[in-house]
Amino acid sequence: MLFSLRRLLPAKKPQKTSHHNEVPRHVAIIMDGNGRWAAERGLPRTAGHHAGMGALRRTIRAAGELGIEVLTVFAFSTENWKRPKAEVDFLMRLPQEFLKTDLPELMEKNVRVRMSGNREGLPLHTLQAVDTAIEKTKTNTGMILNFALNYGSRAEIVAAVRKIAFLAAKGKLDPQTIDENRFNQYLFTADLPDPDLLIRCSGEIRLSNFLLWQLAYAELWFTDVYWPDFKGEHLLAAIEAFRRRDRRFGGINL
Ligand code: FPP
Repeated sequence: MLFSLRRLLPAKKPQKTSHHNEVPRHVAIIMDGNGRWAAERGLPRTAGHHAGMGALRRTIRAAGELGIEVLTVFAFSTENWKRPKAEVDFLMRLPQEFLKTDLPELMEKNVRVRMSGNREGLPLHTLQAVDTAIEKTKTNTGMILNFALNYGSRAEIVAAVRKIAFLAAKGKLDPQTIDENRFNQYLFTADLPDPDLLIRCSGEIRLSNFLLWQLAYAELWFTDVYWPDFKGEHLLAAIEAFRRRDRRFGGINL
């Protein structure tokens, strides 16, 4: 039976400041631990990635129920190309496989798909699957599901600097006008709010070149749970922890 996850969140006491959020607008997730999940079961790593798709499906449903506006998931990093070719090939087929089965539900739930990452280097079939989903969901007005695919934060920042330097050299951009907001416009996430909450699974406590600029003021939440075992209850626990945090953005709460 369907129940609302949001109802499980206790009402928050009124706060003196506006820094306390009910639910994070943007949640970013490092979906880690697929390989170890599989190894513990004597299965190939690819079985872990396949199970990870189920966790992604559950998380999208839970995030939608909770009223999260943007869900960014780290599906493939620029460093993941170092993996054996067979695993990379498998990972590159996952967006197709996932969207083939889940696009109807994403449509029904009014989810809008988009991508953050370098298109260069991605196989055509991967890009076609993602582009089709982006196109089909482009007028949806519900949650944004942002796939970080072939994504690396340092490369993203360097690409932004290169574009800005190019425009400045051509006399099309005055360096004096570059501020944080302006710089942000050259990132993949230009039109998205910064993540409020970062979740990483599998016991690793690091950012791994994920959204380094955008996570400047995010609350970080780590769990030992491997991604394939991640469920709505874990997302809820992360959000409950987020709601207990005192976000001051460098200021003080009087
Ligand atoms: C990290 O676990 C996970 C990945 C590199 C792939 C993420 C993919 C999914 C969660 C499947 C769903 C994705 C799509 C695009 C539908 P790992 O392999 O590094 O695990 P390990 O650290 O235990 O080896």
